[in-house]
Amino acid sequence: MAKLKVGVLISGRGSNMAALIEAARDPAYPAEIACVISNVASAAGIETARKAGIATAVIPHKDYPDRETFDRAVSAELEKHGVGLVALAGFMRIQSPWFPQHWAGRIINIHPSLLPAFKGLHVQQQALDAGVRVSGCTVHFVTPDLDSGPIIAQAVVPVLAGDTADTLAARILRQEHRLYPQVVRWFAEGRITPGDSRAEVAGVPQGATLLFSPEP
Ligand code: GRF
Repeated sequence: MAKLKVGVLISGRGSNMAALIEAARDPAYPAEIACVISNVASAAGIETARKAGIATAVIPHKDYPDRETFDRAVSAELEKHGVGLVALAGFMRIQSPWFPQHWAGRIINIHPSLLPAFKGLHVQQQALDAGVRVSGCTVHFVTPDLDSGPIIAQAVVPVLAGDTADTLAARILRQEHRLYPQVVRWFAEGRITPGDSRAEVAGVPQGATLLFSPEP
């Protein structure tokens, strides 16, 4: 069967992108990374993708007069590569409503908190400030409302005494790298239905959409 073509949007380090590239190296994985697009020319992830032999494009948002014109340029590049799923991976650009509407049901994001808690930026600091004992990451469909689309899967980690935003971020990131390739696999297998707030994942064991990582 033809593999699902995934387009990954990044703005920086690209470690989640790298986790997807790594997963897709397995011949049995049902998706391939068709292209990686960054809005920032200096994004380290672009070099990582190039070295892995993936098609890359830098589309600087500053070259466009407004959000939607930029979004349409990104979309055209994705379509050029026959992308069937857009995976946001540290893409630090708020999109116009046009983009998630155009890609509705075919665009997902990974966010480093247990949504709906702690949306936006500096989320680990938000979690520490709130005193929560667990945090984690969420993969969700993207809708025009920031960090609010139907939740597909989450991974939970402990928040430990003495944690800083950096130590908590690193613990969460390890789970991101497990969760995102898993969700892309389910999407490629046609298992995921968006729903209103909860996306259903068919044919996986109860609990499979929740990873729990008690160890620091
Ligand atoms: C990750 O924590 C992701 O959840 C958030 O931005 C960060 C990107 O990291 N959306 P990387 O570029 O994938 O290393």
